Amino acid sequence: MKIYQADSYLSMCRKAANIISAQVILYPRSVLGLATGSTPLGIYRQLIEWYRKGDLDFTEVTTFNLDEYAGLSPDHPQSYRAFMNENLFDQININRVQINFPDGTTEQIQAECSRYDDLIRSKGGIDMQLLGLGHNGHIGFNEPGIAFEKETHYVQLSESTRQANARFFSEGESVPDHAFTMGIKAIMQAKKILLAVSGSSKATILKRALTGPVLPEVPGSILQLHPDLTVVADTDALSELLKA
Ligand code: GLP
Repeated sequence: MKIYQADSYLSMCRKAANIISAQVILYPRSVLGLATGSTPLGIYRQLIEWYRKGDLDFTEVTTFNLDEYAGLSPDHPQSYRAFMNENLFDQININRVQINFPDGTTEQIQAECSRYDDLIRSKGGIDMQLLGLGHNGHIGFNEPGIAFEKETHYVQLSESTRQANARFFSEGESVPDHAFTMGIKAIMQAKKILLAVSGSSKATILKRALTGPVLPEVPGSILQLHPDLTVVADTDALSELLKA
């Protein structure tokens, strides 16, 4: 495991964007696993800036997003696809047909999960997976207690996750209670993992994830076992770890 300490959110984002850029420059046909949430926003802004300067080309890149809310169509403003369109895809030259999400609207739940896993495999697997960390240790939407063996699956979201994500929804609009997510097994099959973490509110869970016992109660703890994990975090997020 490599840990990069950044002194601010912005420099954390710059470091993470540098690592993703290196991947795309060295391997233009990379398969990237992407994440939503607030943490990656600055990373995406930095990638867009470098793309605009002519330093990056995404035409041959394929992406798989980690998760999607159940019941939200791709054009729903709070769907993760809409989030990614707004914050990254609409502003770079990625080929639309190479962008992949679980279909949140399907009723064929099992078939959709298998389709997503098969599609990832058919592209040769994920070369680099970007991850954030939920306050309860979740990665993607793999909530505490979920078996490590799962590939893409359908999950019930915990109340704390729904509350944490309510800020993206308008007042009175309810956060979906289910989602599709790549499972821990699918995430762990990525060749490289880049975990980005920011802020003092993540300090305790980051320490538990990186140095505590590897348990389904802290889904992110499984990352300790990945052979190529890079953690990029700001000083606030690392504050508990640095005390040790
Ligand atoms: C959501 C996403 C996760 C993300 C997490 C943390 O639940 N499904 O992929 O890592 O939020 O988000 P934030 O970066 O906003 O703290």
